[in-house]
Amino acid sequence: MDGAAYAVVVDSSIGRGRITGVDTSTATAQPGVLAVLSHRNAPRLPYQDNPGSNNPPGRRLRVFQDDRVLFFGQPVAVAVATTLEAAQHAASLVQVFYDAEQPTTDLTSAPADKPETYARGDADTALGTAQVRLDMTYRLARNHHNPMEPHATIARWDGGKLTVWDKTQWVTNGTQVELAAVFGISQSSVRVISPFVGGGFGSGLRCWPHTVVAALAARETGRPVKLVLSRRQLYFGTGYRPVYEYKVRMGSDRRGRLTAMTHDIKAETSSYETFTEGVLAPGQMLYSMPNVRQAYATVPLDVNTPIWMRGPGFATASYVIESAMDELAHELGIDPIELRLRNEPAEDPSSGLPFSTRRLRECYQVGAREFGWHRRNPKPRSTRDGDWLIGTGMAAAVYDTGGFPAQAHVRLDADGTALVQSATSDMGPGTYTSMPQVAADALGLTMTTVDFRLGDSIMPRTGPHGGSTTMASVGTAILDASDQVRRRAITLAVNDPRSPLHRVDPDDVIVRKGRLQVKNDPARGETYQQLLTRNQRSHLEAIGDYAGANHDRFSMSAYGAVFTEVAVDARLGLVRIRRMLAVYDAGKIVNPKLADSQAIGGMVGGIGQALLEHTVTDPRDGRIVNANLADYLVPVNADIRDLRAIYLNGNDPEANPLGVKGLGEIVLVGIAPAIANAVFHATGRRVRDFPITADALL
Ligand code: MOS
Repeated sequence: MDGAAYAVVVDSSIGRGRITGVDTSTATAQPGVLAVLSHRNAPRLPYQDNPGSNNPPGRRLRVFQDDRVLFFGQPVAVAVATTLEAAQHAASLVQVFYDAEQPTTDLTSAPADKPETYARGDADTALGTAQVRLDMTYRLARNHHNPMEPHATIARWDGGKLTVWDKTQWVTNGTQVELAAVFGISQSSVRVISPFVGGGFGSGLRCWPHTVVAALAARETGRPVKLVLSRRQLYFGTGYRPVYEYKVRMGSDRRGRLTAMTHDIKAETSSYETFTEGVLAPGQMLYSMPNVRQAYATVPLDVNTPIWMRGPGFATASYVIESAMDELAHELGIDPIELRLRNEPAEDPSSGLPFSTRRLRECYQVGAREFGWHRRNPKPRSTRDGDWLIGTGMAAAVYDTGGFPAQAHVRLDADGTALVQSATSDMGPGTYTSMPQVAADALGLTMTTVDFRLGDSIMPRTGPHGGSTTMASVGTAILDASDQVRRRAITLAVNDPRSPLHRVDPDDVIVRKGRLQVKNDPARGETYQQLLTRNQRSHLEAIGDYAGANHDRFSMSAYGAVFTEVAVDARLGLVRIRRMLAVYDAGKIVNPKLADSQAIGGMVGGIGQALLEHTVTDPRDGRIVNANLADYLVPVNADIRDLRAIYLNGNDPEANPLGVKGLGEIVLVGIAPAIANAVFHATGRRVRDFPITADALL
């Protein structure tokens, strides 16, 4: 971009306290430096509320508005210069003086907020009389999304209008409306453009402080400004999956029929915002039992605010519940699948609603057969291969089927091609590919004649690109728009005396490869191109609409069963995944290759969650110790062996007109507990803290 400047954020080197001074004299004297902004010289910003966004309740971080430091790494200044190197150098020369206080970053040493609760029956009393009782506490480490592409923003002002190119999973309400609210300008004065997202996993579901910093720096310097967070800065400049402490008690009879469960859950959040996620749902509806009590409390700490990360809430709950089920199966001497079948509900036990579809039994059955589950010796530590202890484990998976209101625009041009637009994102699931499939099917066009564009706030609005809802939401809006356009073309043809389709019943007209034809007489017809050209119509167009998922009549979720075989080095405690197989009931699969890409990616993420990923905070100053990809471990190719997913051939017409149930989230749910259960089977050692590292197994 002509005249672009570069911004580099200076982050706080204390975990809590006040800024007592900022010395920018050396930094601003460097060649090429255009500005150094901090709370001392930055203008006050309106920071109006943005209720339609994903911002959690609270008071969002206001960049450079006061002297408070709320967490280690908080942006406290920004250096703007004509080159990246000059900006980096200037940022390193900014001296910030602090009055430091002791931060609290440990979940167990701080008071919790009032919990969110749920109860049916009387779980505590029922536990007292249960024939079999288990009481466990599980802990999950903080996980960071770590997409390959860092968060990055380019901001440019043209008069009072702001254009931002940003990494975001929600160009409209997430970023456009947020920037309008922060700067106190109209929504129409902000345009957000985000055609590509190089991985997100949820980290782009809201607007982060650096995007505001870029826009502010651009306004103050009168130049377009580019700001890229470093890998280190991603750890506190965006969000993460929070630390959890999850106490579970379960009661059953001797035959494994569950009678009660209690869930006492604590999760970290920041001191300035209360982030919560759907961690309660699985405990309410995965298994049939009369008594459930849940309490989910956030603990405000001196940390930056968490955000949803792939399989949010459900992945956490499933790790605990599915591990606990495995513990119960072992205690009772019942096969883990059989135990789950004995507690499979006929309707949703939390709402009494029928399931739109729930084919978990088939998932178990197909998975057990394909994996060879029943060949296992159920006794832990019973199988060896040289130095390696071999174990198998399984877990169920569930994720809510949702859908956000969405709109899409479809335009069929006289040349017989179509343009589809919707302000959604593609962070990797293949939205660019699957959406034109929907339009091509509905319009009767080939894929190559449909162009799909996304990622611009001037396009028809959608909900966030997250929660496994994009196909259900945007796809349905595209289906609606495409149906309207096709029907308009058919109406035009049957009313046109010059058309071979004149006076044909519209219901008897179909479109194949861009040609309208009589269903039972394909020779009779004409192309879109002929029809529109003859009628001097440059195009036909429609806006399609989707109102959002309706949860009143059915309990709607995707389901899965995950199986894995692990090898644990008996002397070194190293865990290796030998193979993994998952079977999904995810409704209609629009594109099997993209589905496989999602499923395998989810498995890799789950392997990371179970065995490697662990953001470590130093309690002394609140610093993230391993804010880099050398010490924050993720699986690499050598960790990944034989991963396979199977999809039950399905369709869920109650969920949405496309019959899809969502796939991107559920494919991470259930992976980690299957691994934990396999590690127990291999070693006889139950590790209740994630990740399961070698030291815990020695
Ligand atoms: Mo997904 S955690 O909603 O990006």
